[in-house]
Amino acid sequence: MAIHTYTVAINPAFLQEIKDDDRDLRRLLTHTLGALEPVRMERVSLRSVVDLLARLRDQLAMHFTLEEAFGYFDDPMEAAPRLLERAEVLRSEHAPLFLDICQLVERAEELMDGRATVQHLKRLAADFRSFYARFQKHEESENALILEAFDDDIGVGD
Ligand SMILES: [Fe+2]
Repeated sequence: MAIHTYTVAINPAFLQEIKDDDRDLRRLLTHTLGALEPVRMERVSLRSVVDLLARLRDQLAMHFTLEEAFGYFDDPMEAAPRLLERAEVLRSEHAPLFLDICQLVERAEELMDGRATVQHLKRLAADFRSFYARFQKHEESENALILEAFDDDIGVGD
């Protein structure tokens, strides 16, 4: 049953699934950031980096699939057009973000051929941090959109 609201309902299944998935995702992001800290690059285990990045890729696949399967709104027809437009833009960011994490996994795997230098690892770590920043920005925009839709529901600003 949807949380009943005046104009637009946030899909409760979406909220629950996202919450569960989010916890796992945050943990994985924190571990990966920790493993790829610049100070650790001299003695990082490439195998563990590949494993973390691959797990993150799989978790992100689920994360994006959940968001896209449930949608942000219970009934998009009831959402304001400006919110739907922003939702569409945010949704279109999933594919490039996913491609980025896939490429990071591939690069990390390639480095396992034994020829990886600290410079290679530092570049990989920097690119991961850049990916992380883009993903965070995307997530913040989604949260802002959901909050705004919720404000619409309860009539804030009316
Ligand atoms: Fe998203």
